Amino acid sequence: MERDQNIMPKFNYLRPAVDAAKQMRTPFYFYDMELLRKTLETIKQLTADRRFKVHYAIKANGNPQIISEIAKYGIGADLVSGGEINAAAKAGFAPANMNFSGVGKTDWEIRTGLEYGIGCFNVESVPELEVINEIAGEMEKTARIAIRVNPDIDAHTHHYVTTGTADNKFGINIDILDQVIEQTLNLPHLHLSGLHFHIGSQITDMQPYSMLCETVNRLIDEYEQRGIHFEIINVGGGLGIDYHHPDEHPLPELETYFNIFKENLHLRPYQELHFELGRAIVASCGSLISRVVYVKENRNKQFVILDAGMNDLIRPALYNAYHEVQNITSREQKTEKYDVVGPVCESSDVFVHDHVMPLTRRGDLVAIRSAGAYCESMASTYNMRPIPPSFYHFGI
Ligand code: LLP
Repeated sequence: MERDQNIMPKFNYLRPAVDAAKQMRTPFYFYDMELLRKTLETIKQLTADRRFKVHYAIKANGNPQIISEIAKYGIGADLVSGGEINAAAKAGFAPANMNFSGVGKTDWEIRTGLEYGIGCFNVESVPELEVINEIAGEMEKTARIAIRVNPDIDAHTHHYVTTGTADNKFGINIDILDQVIEQTLNLPHLHLSGLHFHIGSQITDMQPYSMLCETVNRLIDEYEQRGIHFEIINVGGGLGIDYHHPDEHPLPELETYFNIFKENLHLRPYQELHFELGRAIVASCGSLISRVVYVKENRNKQFVILDAGMNDLIRPALYNAYHEVQNITSREQKTEKYDVVGPVCESSDVFVHDHVMPLTRRGDLVAIRSAGAYCESMASTYNMRPIPPSFYHFGI
């Protein structure tokens, strides 16, 4: 069903994806490794002369090729499961640069972390502190921990990805922090190394980060006066990207973001500032490449039906998220309005509603952009559809 498979000149940077589609079955994830490297290089430059340490949140994309590339830049890893700890070690991340977060760490996962000697457990509750202490004692080790504080800051993002407000399950409420720190200091197999925060994801308004800096400054001051010195301050991740204009803004606002912390957070000479960025590192470098199977007309709508579905890219169905959908091979001048949908038997299997695209026909190739974060890593085999393969473009 392939039509003329020449790319539209304005999508030239996706030419390797069009070439790949001549040899491999669609859908597939296309990764622009050059853009990934550029993003990592920018992060490296912006953090080089500061005590800033970036950890990549592997949950955003755990693809082995991607994480091995990221590990080469000396970046650390932010992990949320035993599976991720093993994958990070295999990809070459140094255990000392691994942080382990999550509200439900199980005994085997804690043991795995201790066996590797990971840098820090970000602890989310008192029962978890007790269990890590007990297991570390059994293994004759000391666990370095940071307490995850819920700072009660609204990150102004989708409610499914807001994590720093008082009514969600994450972290320890700031009003009981004193008591929890007391308890930690009495547990012999724990070393309290810092405080951890994470206020949400896909944050594009920088004001919540300034508020976070104020809270952090206040806590550092208060505890320093009582003789408690935190070596690590971890401000989590969450920096958003521009899903609406992937071509105009291929890189996130990294400079503005790091400057907020440089200017507002009063880091002490003995402290390191940790960041846990996921989406900002990988989202833009990925696209899901799919082929139009049918174009169908109902009374009021035209549907473009793709061979990719919500199982390959669930964000629109789950969060109502927007991803730019581009017909990259149509040569038509005329445009039409389409609902671009997948083949899965669920009404929510829609990528975008009422989307204006050039006249689209069976066989055209479509790119669903900004698919490098939380797409492959959230893919499922629902409807017994295989997980799509990946194609990596390393530049010329
Ligand atoms: N640190 C912690 C403790 C986190 O929970 C997360 C993400 C991150 C760092 C990385 O956040 P990022 O920099 O990627 O925003 N599946 C959702 C996003 C869930 C984020 C969960 N936590 C989505 O597709 O939008």
